[in-house]
This record gives sequence, C-alpha cells and structure tokens, in this order.
Amino acid sequence: MANPRVPEQLEAFHAALTTADGLIGSSYKVDAALLAAAPQLKVISSVSVGVDNYDLPTLAARGITLCHTPGVLTETTADTVFSLIMASSRRLVELANLVRDGRWTRNIGEDLFGWDVHGKTLGILGFGRIGQALARRAALGFGMPVLYHSRRAVNVQQDAPDLAAKVTHTPLDELLAQADIVVVLLPLSDETRGLIGTREFALMKSGAILVNGARGAIVSEAALLHALDHGMLRAAGLDVFATEPLPLDSPLRTHPRVTALPHIGSATHDTRHAMAAMATSNLLLALAGQAPLAVFPNSR
Ligand code: 8YV
Repeated sequence: MANPRVPEQLEAFHAALTTADGLIGSSYKVDAALLAAAPQLKVISSVSVGVDNYDLPTLAARGITLCHTPGVLTETTADTVFSLIMASSRRLVELANLVRDGRWTRNIGEDLFGWDVHGKTLGILGFGRIGQALARRAALGFGMPVLYHSRRAVNVQQDAPDLAAKVTHTPLDELLAQADIVVVLLPLSDETRGLIGTREFALMKSGAILVNGARGAIVSEAALLHALDHGMLRAAGLDVFATEPLPLDSPLRTHPRVTALPHIGSATHDTRHAMAAMATSNLLLALAGQAPLAVFPNSR
C-alpha cells in the first residue's frame, strides 16, 4: 500500500487488489469492503505493531494471515514516549518556542517553571514490550516508582526480571489515583476504545500529566480537553490522535499545555528500515508457504 490516498495511486491500488495474493503497508483501513475486492488475498504484512486498522474477524474468516513487526520498534517507541514525558513535564516545546520567537527577555520566572520527572510515580497502561522498555527507562534511569495495569497477565519475573522489584501491577483506578504521570501504551480494541474518559480523568491526581503513545481513540479527546481546561490535568503529551493527521480545527493542535507530535513513535531511519525489512520478509515467507517472523495471533 504505497500511499493509496493519492488519487492516481488509488485507482492502480484497487485494480491490483483484484488479483493480489499479498498486501504490504501500514496505517490504511483494511475493512470488509476492501477485502471483498481482493478475492485471492492470502497474506497481509503490516509495517507496524498495531493492527487496529485491520478487520480481524474477516481476516480470520477468510483465513488471511496477518503479519506485523513487533520487537524491532520497541526501544525507539519507548524513547519517543519518554521524550514526551520530559517535554510535557519540563515544557520543552513551549520554552524552545519562547527562545525561537525572541520572547526570552529575562531570566525565566516561576510562571514558566516545569515539573520534575525523576522520582515521580509513573503509571503505565499496557505492559507489553514497549511498556516494559518505558518502565526500564523510568525505574532504572530516573528513579521513578512504576505502577502498571495490564488486562493480560504479565510474568514480569520471566519477561523482565530486571524490573521485577521495580514495578507494581496495580488496578486501573488505583493507578490513576496514585500516578503523577499516566502513559497509555495499550493496543486499540473494542475493550480499550474510550477507556480514558471523564470518569478516569476525575480519578487522576490533580496536576497529573497524561501521555498517549498508543492510539488516539483510547482517550476521549473531549474529556482530555475538559481536564486540561478545568485544572485537573497539568499537561498532555500526545503522539497519537483519534483522527490522523490531526485536523487543523482540533483544539489539541494549539492547546498551550499539549505537546503534540505527528505519530512518530517508531519514526527513525534505523527502526523504520528494520520494520520495512521485517515486513518484507514476513510477506515473502508467507507467500512461499513458510513461517513468517511474526504473525498476529488472532488472524490465524
Ligand atoms: C507507525 C505504529 O504508526 O507500529 C505501530 O503500530 O503505530 C507505528 O509504528 C506505523 O504504523 C509504522 O508504519
């Protein structure tokens, strides 16, 4: 899926679908209608770890294998999320713009002070590879107590023994009440869509910071804006949005206490090349009837 949003490519893309055995790409809605136009499709290889843009039940019913690229993007995405924690807490973008705009005319005063990150309590929603990599940065690098909430059981002693004594599995409501910084790293599903809404923001510590490095639709943007505008939330760091690219009329784009990034979680040269290489290998292996490197389990 080169970029079938470009009109002249869209026509060629849909023409190719009719005889395609395999599909490779990312960030494109692969729904029942598109799949119906691809009667020979056997494999989809996504250049992503998230697969919420695929109609999983139809893939399973059709026996279409869905491959993805977990692992290769873990560290890069954890770096991005931690940089959003720093940028939101220390107001980095806001203050860099103050210099850029020529408004640095005196030593900055209390009105421009940020908030410390080291030693603060971090709450992580979702404790897969990326959540664990983030916890490592926070606990081992910044002395942060780490709470995590995961819907699936995580064997930390086995999966991340270096974190076993550093992280605490915590019920969602307790995590929201105790964390200074709440980070969303859950996959988007029917269970997690809208998970962080008015009720959850009301449970959060006054002056907490929310960071979303997963999928925009997990957080109610209306509830987020209300929490920011009514003194409940200190700041938000967002790499993902319900609609992407973020619409020009979204208040999140210019909100003074929102640090907004254009979904760059895995967007480094090294990592995106590694993802593309893995996705290509997945596609070729699957089409050759061999085991791909990573198949999304629900699509078998
Ligand atoms: C990018 C991601 O959005 O892997 C994911 O799920 O969100 C990011 O890596 C993109 O899908 C990479 O092509």
